[in-house]
Amino acid sequence: MTSIRPLPHIEKTKPYVPGGKLHGSEDRVVMLASNENPFGPSPRAIEAMQDVARQVHVYPDPNYGALRQAIADAKGIKDVSRVAVSAGSDEIIHLLTQAYAGPGDEVLFTEHAFSMYQVSALGHGATPVTVPETDLTAGFNAVLGGVSERTRILFLANPNNPTGTIMEVEDLARLQDALPPHVLFVIDGAYAEYVGETYEAAIRDLVDRRANTVMIRTFSKIYGLAALRLGWGYFPAEIAATFQRIRPPFNINAFAVAAGIASIGDTEFIETSRRHNAEWRAIYVDRLNAMGLPTPKSMANFVIPDFGSPERAAAANEYLKQNNVLVRAVGGYGLPSRLRISIGSAEDNETVLSLLESFTASR
Ligand SMILES: Cc1ncc(COP(=O)(O)O)c(C=O)c1O
Repeated sequence: MTSIRPLPHIEKTKPYVPGGKLHGSEDRVVMLASNENPFGPSPRAIEAMQDVARQVHVYPDPNYGALRQAIADAKGIKDVSRVAVSAGSDEIIHLLTQAYAGPGDEVLFTEHAFSMYQVSALGHGATPVTVPETDLTAGFNAVLGGVSERTRILFLANPNNPTGTIMEVEDLARLQDALPPHVLFVIDGAYAEYVGETYEAAIRDLVDRRANTVMIRTFSKIYGLAALRLGWGYFPAEIAATFQRIRPPFNINAFAVAAGIASIGDTEFIETSRRHNAEWRAIYVDRLNAMGLPTPKSMANFVIPDFGSPERAAAANEYLKQNNVLVRAVGGYGLPSRLRISIGSAEDNETVLSLLESFTASR
């Protein structure tokens, strides 16, 4: 036994549980467990990365100026100094928690919120506090009811993962106004592109509206760059300056930089991905409901049918696995009777829907 011990709060952390993968399997596996883009990366990103391969002996630009400018241009942000980039948006979640919450502080989120908020709060010695949702949706009163003098950060994924539900922009603005000044409001827009450009602009404008709000975003979902680990955020000036102070130098590699710049400007690819997702999301909701699996409306790139009991959800999950289909069990999110299914290619969607039709016909 070693006598070298981590800090007490580190001993209490629980690791993030990722969606399943069957790397190296001989059979074709339908992977609908991690909300990835079924179209893969933009062809422009692939081309840009090929150019980078010969230059990886050189460190990337430490300020990531070109990438931040490309993001600002694409998203209608005027002040590029307030755009920050990170190794996945998970890193922004960690760095904001590191900067603003520690032992004795509370980090607030809703009962079925994205699990990295809890991982990060515990990892920095802060106390995670959860408030209930209504119909799997975060509500203004419930969230505000969870705020105390010790709350330092409120995390809200909008749309949320794994529920796919959204708090309307008017309520986000009311929440901004109602939060006491010591609370940092983090709007996590990992799936914002699936809602649409008007919504993207609305959450950007919320950041400009008050100095207590940041927006965090990812290249892992609609841009199809999950393996590169690239996220970004739009912050008030002071928070941007703090973030730059604690960000590890060279936290983003040159492939991610090149692919990010190429992807964010590929509006045709983004629009194709968004349209495919919206069409299939509607088909999923209709067909799952018709199978007797109540499925709430989702604003993201996944759906979350209810199998009626944890046992039936587990049996369905097992049945899908036996047929080489991976979806996400969400018992760890307090939703044991549901499974989260990412919207995949047309072929993969047909496969999972047909399998579930067979499953529900007999069990
Ligand atoms: C709501 C939400 N935020 C953040 C992330 C983290 O994404 P990444 O670290 O790949 O940017 C995810 C990933 O699933 C997510 O669902």
